Amino acid sequence: MSSHSSVLLKEAIDELQIATDGVYIDATYGRGGHSKAILSKLGPKGKLIAIDKDPEAAEDASSIDDTRFHFFQSNFSDIPQILENIGLNKVNGILFDLGVSSPQLDNGQRGFSFLKNGPLDMRMNPSEGISLREWLLKADKNEIKIVLKEYGEERLASSIASEICLKRDICLLSNKEKMLSSTLELAKLIDDVYSRSRIRKKKGIHPATKSFQAFRIYLNNELDQLSEILEKLPLILVLGSRIVIISFHSLEDRLVKSSLRKNKTFVSRSDGMTSNQFAFLASMDSDNMKPKIYLKPLKKIKPSGTEIDRNKRSRSAILRVAEVISENVDSK
Ligand SMILES: C[S@@+](CC[C@H](N)C(=O)[O-])C[C@H]1O[C@@H](n2cnc3c(N)ncnc32)[C@H](O)[C@@H]1O
Repeated sequence: MSSHSSVLLKEAIDELQIATDGVYIDATYGRGGHSKAILSKLGPKGKLIAIDKDPEAAEDASSIDDTRFHFFQSNFSDIPQILENIGLNKVNGILFDLGVSSPQLDNGQRGFSFLKNGPLDMRMNPSEGISLREWLLKADKNEIKIVLKEYGEERLASSIASEICLKRDICLLSNKEKMLSSTLELAKLIDDVYSRSRIRKKKGIHPATKSFQAFRIYLNNELDQLSEILEKLPLILVLGSRIVIISFHSLEDRLVKSSLRKNKTFVSRSDGMTSNQFAFLASMDSDNMKPKIYLKPLKKIKPSGTEIDRNKRSRSAILRVAEVISENVDSK
């Protein structure tokens, strides 16, 4: 069984500045590497709320026998609702370790990897939304091209989309159930498009890397869910809390960086107010609701050479830290 080697583990936990009796959120449980490290820093009164939308992550979390630990199989964009349901107003810190886990990539049956054969699925929660194959069979060429460009910055987006549609139309005409159904078949189709083009393949990088990333981001609605929760963070964090986010590609990091930027003001919700009541009031008259709060970006950390040597998957990681401050708290 595949395990997950947590990226920037020590750095992420140090930056959270865990108070022993605080309440923390691990928004991306995976295989619990960061969660277990947070639990080890908490005292008997501390609490950890962990989230993951993947049912296999949920199963892994069920093995943690600790009354301070509470797991929810859900999208992290639902965190405000989850907190409301369990009667919690605000927490003392939150961690996001974005993207996919090693077990998701290593199990060919999940359809995330261009190196392992399996069905074209790619859903983090396979009972939500549609599989990649279902989408490819109905999307039009332009839609496929836009997804490849927007979420993969793929230079051959147009040719890859044309080739997929050609294969797909043959498949639909000849009623061949099996066509365009496996990860290796799609990876080879993309590789062939590269071989026929004048663009050189990059050494050590599979030509399907960007396309697989693009399809995964699109199908799992990754950037929208991230942007939704980043906007809501000031509603659920107490002043002085830390936000720690590890991202793995430039699209994610750009979004994180712009959401954590200094001088972006938020109106804070009063204690006892539910997020729905707050959203309603804020939409009516945000100027009258004080105090205003800010996310103050603190630092950016990259993995050390030793970590990259030990865990190749960490090489593109960027950790960003921000703190929740109010307008009358001076910048340090
Ligand atoms: C890189 S792994 C986390 C690994 C974890 N920190 C560890 O040490 O084991 C990312 C996890 O986030 C989950 N995930 C990604 N986007 C999510 C979302 N919008 N809502 C909930 N879980 C999400 C994935 O299913 C995956 O298990």
